[in-house]
Parts: sequence; C-alpha cells; structure tokens
Amino acid sequence: MKTIATISELKQVVASARAEGKTIGLVPTMGALHIGHLSLIKRACSECDFVVISVFVNPTQFNNPEDLRTYPRTLEADKKLIEDNTSAQVVFAPSVEEIYPEPDTRQFAFGPIAEVMEGEHRPGHFNGVAQIVSKLFMFVEPDKAYFGEKDFQQLAIIRKMVKDLDFKIQIVGCPIVRYMDGLAVSSRNALLQEDERAIAPIIQATLRRSVEEKQYEMTPSEVISWVTKTLNKIEHLEVEYYSIVDGLTLQPVNDWTDTDYVVGCITCYCGKVRLIDNITYKVSE
Ligand code: PAF
Repeated sequence: MKTIATISELKQVVASARAEGKTIGLVPTMGALHIGHLSLIKRACSECDFVVISVFVNPTQFNNPEDLRTYPRTLEADKKLIEDNTSAQVVFAPSVEEIYPEPDTRQFAFGPIAEVMEGEHRPGHFNGVAQIVSKLFMFVEPDKAYFGEKDFQQLAIIRKMVKDLDFKIQIVGCPIVRYMDGLAVSSRNALLQEDERAIAPIIQATLRRSVEEKQYEMTPSEVISWVTKTLNKIEHLEVEYYSIVDGLTLQPVNDWTDTDYVVGCITCYCGKVRLIDNITYKVSE
C-alpha cells in the first residue's frame, strides 16, 4: 500500500491504474479509522480493482474550533489498520495547504435537504463537506465512492451534489456498523469517558423502543417528544435534536402515512461528545 501526500502524485497513480483498465473506488475519511470505516473499505475492495482511501481532517466542515482541535488524528495507526485488514492500494493523506492553497470560496446551494437537522445546527458544515468531497471526486474521478449511512443527511447531500454537478460516480451507502450493545461505531466514541461510554448505547436503545413500542400509539411529533424526554432524563445525555423525516427529502413528516420512507435522525450529546445516529421507521418494499 502506498501513502501519497500530493494531488499530482495521486492523479498519476490513479491514471496508471485506469490505463490498465482498473475500476477505481474512493473511500473518503477523516481518519481515526475503526471497524465502520473498514467495512466501507472492504466493500470498496470487493467491488473495485483499485481503491484510494483519503485521510484528511477537513477544517472547512468544522464550525466549532474546539471540535476541529480535538478531532482524533492517528495516521500511523490508520495505515496499519488498512494494510493489515484490506487490500486497498493507496492512502491519500494530504496537508491542509495541499488541499486549500487558497481559501475555498465556493458556496453550494443544496436547498431544503441541507437546511434541516445538521444543516440547521452546524451552519456551513455541509458546504465544507461538499468542498472537500467535490475536490476528492475531481482528483480521483472514481467509478464508485463509499459513505456510511450513519451520516444519513451527509449521504443524501452527496447524492444531490453528484446529481447537480453531473459527476459520473456511483455513490454507495453502507449500513451502520454497531457494537454488540447497539452504539453506532464512530471516531468520536474514543472521546467518551468510561461512564459516558456505558450509557451511550441508550440512545439507539431508545430509538428502537420508539419503533417497537411507540410508533403506532403516537404521532411523529409525540414520538419526538417522548424520545427527547426519555434521553434527557439520563445523566450525561442531552438531545440537540430528534427529527422524524422523509428519508428522501429529509423534510419532517407529520403523519406516518405521509411517505413510504420514514427515518428518525438524532444528535445527542453524551457528556461533551456530540453523537449522531438514526433509525428507520418505515421503508418501501
Ligand atoms: O464523513 C466524514 O468522515 C467526512 O464528512 C468526509 C465525508 C470524509 C468529508 O470530510
């Protein structure tokens, strides 16, 4: 496996692979890799001949400087994890100056899907995601790019960007990987204190109860209140938002019959750590 830090070398190795008739897969990451990322990388390796993994903590998608400062950076461990467990060919780990020699002033307008949930609570976040992902798409021009479904809204926005900008790239959404106790695997889990790690699985457990026990007795807005109250009663947990939305438009649903695809998306602080997760209430067959 090769580690590359410059865009010119990245373009060169990808061009050689393409000249040999290989299909190209891209897995964009911010590093601090875990089994969730490995599942994306393994999927990419099983579907593409040549796989590039980018490891770059993208400053333009952070609207909280403290969050950017404390984001885990573990490149050596990341490379070892990839090499020991996958057959990926390239890790692209550029510097901030390499990616942004000048400030990226591009403004993306994704409309209503970017104005709710994370878009509302983290202004500028998706613009930053679109800046880096569009650059990676232009550098690598992959046949397929892989993203996790934990970042449900991010995945929807990237699909929209691909459509809007006419990238010829297939976006592959990969299922959330969870620990046995139900907590979604995330780089941020490493920041949890021991007692916080012990209660964090309650977030997904509460969402599951809201599907299994509550959905047919309550309206979506009543379920939102129930989930929020239930979680906020637990020490260390504080819900930033819980939204029940149409899985395609990401707009709130008022009634379970409004659409065939209904998803609940949550952001909940566990101590100081901002965790996100989601659950499907309904999906069309
Ligand atoms: O999901 C992430 O880790 C990041 O938002 C991404 C897609 C790698 C862009 O920096």
